[in-house]
Amino acid sequence: MASLTPLEFDAAALGYADNPCESWSLGSQCYIDGKYQAIEKEHVFAKSWQFICHEEALQNAGDYIAQEVAGQPILVVRNQNNELQAFYNVCKHRGHLLAEGQGNMAKIVCPYHSWNYDLKGQLLAAPRSKLIENFDTAEVCLDQVQVEVFCHLVFVNLDSAAASLANQTGDLADEVMAYAPDLSKLTYATHLSYKIKANWKAVTDNFLECYHCTTAHKDFVSLVDMQTYKVKTHGIYSSHLAKAKLTGNAAYNIDDAAVTDHAVWYLWPNIALMRYPGRGNFMVWQFNPAGPEETYEEFNIYFETADVTEAEQEALKFIDEVLQVEDINLVESVQRGMNTPAFQSGRIMANPDGEHGMSEHAVHHFHGMLLEAYKRAIK
Ligand code: FES
Ligand SMILES: [Fe+2]
Repeated sequence: MASLTPLEFDAAALGYADNPCESWSLGSQCYIDGKYQAIEKEHVFAKSWQFICHEEALQNAGDYIAQEVAGQPILVVRNQNNELQAFYNVCKHRGHLLAEGQGNMAKIVCPYHSWNYDLKGQLLAAPRSKLIENFDTAEVCLDQVQVEVFCHLVFVNLDSAAASLANQTGDLADEVMAYAPDLSKLTYATHLSYKIKANWKAVTDNFLECYHCTTAHKDFVSLVDMQTYKVKTHGIYSSHLAKAKLTGNAAYNIDDAAVTDHAVWYLWPNIALMRYPGRGNFMVWQFNPAGPEETYEEFNIYFETADVTEAEQEALKFIDEVLQVEDINLVESVQRGMNTPAFQSGRIMANPDGEHGMSEHAVHHFHGMLLEAYKRAIK
């Protein structure tokens, strides 16, 4: 089990203050040293709600999806009673993984020796087990993990003691559904993914502040009315809301947009929920650590139809070819700077009103939650 000494913790938190206006950022060693990645795997990712899919992918009994969560193979299925269940995707015979990808199945059959389980994870039959003394299929069951549908999105949590996501997030569901009332009807349209040479926290830090927007995203600031940009932190999430600028926009055409708000929510630890100006749409972004200095960024994108319209293609092209290129260059540069003796941490540029879109208080909020998690790793 990965742990920190009290001295290591103090060094990571050096300069951090509860008041964002007085605080410095998290120490650069946390973005470089593999020790922090091991701690985060155990104390952050294995204890938080992680996104799996839109509920449309698991509508019917037998629908399943297999995914890695915090490095663990997880299987989510809709069982024969129409309830969602999640298990470790691991056979109780010799540990072979049970299912891959997504699809529909009547029962869970292990590809190694054909032990088969019902959709509640109960072993039904194991070939030749009748010949084995004291072998009772009723005693063999897959290990369950928590699963929850939140805003029509499916999440799992490897921590059996974790409070529900709805309980942990207060008004978030109401806020998301107010901005995206059509979320249950949206359908999976496409996926974007990026491998970035930076720690997942550098990617998340960058996502959490728009202090860099006027300098680094010239087209984006013509899409969004920065005067209306407000960032608020609450519990384990932050909201980042602005009105779109309907004219003179260099990012992409939104003349026919039904959605004229830019609404983004960051959800601890590595998830962003998002509604962009355009037709009805929703995106779920994940910042997944691939190594101490590498991140897989995954965007799942839902539209009114699986066929992407020309306007949506233009918006996706802007995200993929402009915004992402700009942001990836920024965070990869930060990662290089953090690897020098010239950088340890920097002042959080938070404004006292605590809401301004150009203020970095949501970065400070994220660092506070990270330090709380690191505190639990002190030995
Ligand atoms: S490991 Fe699954 S049946 Fe043998
Ligand atoms: Fe950015």
